Amino acid sequence: MAGTKTNITKNDPTTNPESKKIIDEIIDRNNHLNGATMVVLNELQSKIGFISPAMQVYVANRMGIPVSQIHGVVSFYSFFTTGPRGKHTVKFCLGTACYVGGIPQVIEKAKQILGVEPGQTTEDGEITLEVCRCVGACSQAPVVVIDEDLHGRVRPNKFPQLIKNIHPDQE
Ligand code: FES
Repeated sequence: MAGTKTNITKNDPTTNPESKKIIDEIIDRNNHLNGATMVVLNELQSKIGFISPAMQVYVANRMGIPVSQIHGVVSFYSFFTTGPRGKHTVKFCLGTACYVGGIPQVIEKAKQILGVEPGQTTEDGEITLEVCRCVGACSQAPVVVIDEDLHGRVRPNKFPQLIKNIHPDQE
């Protein structure tokens, strides 16, 4: 998965002095707290917008904890992303009703037409795919949430049109 790569890209926040200052400040302010890891990662996600693999290594070193611990938290909670979110977010509900109702097939279709997996953003920066837990609309399973809008009973063959609505250039 993307989170295991540790190549530092040109635009990584750890190589940008301004972002690095923000990262250091967040760590220094919270490092002594109980449950510091979660607090620090939450703040990084909201202030920087994502937690890149290089950031995970940097934070682990500065906090004196194993990288695997940071990586474990970042990959467990779908709230965290390892790269910038796209202009639009498409979330697939992985709750039981949606799972049984066919969301895996919709995810397959999404991967096919967009070339990315949940947790990743399309190359043009337009669309981020994510998974989420039950959004409380089980009777409409399977459910996809696009930005703020909930779409129920989504079938794989209907999914491309939903994407076209937010991204008309998408083939
Ligand atoms: S399981 Fe998907 S809305 Fe409840």
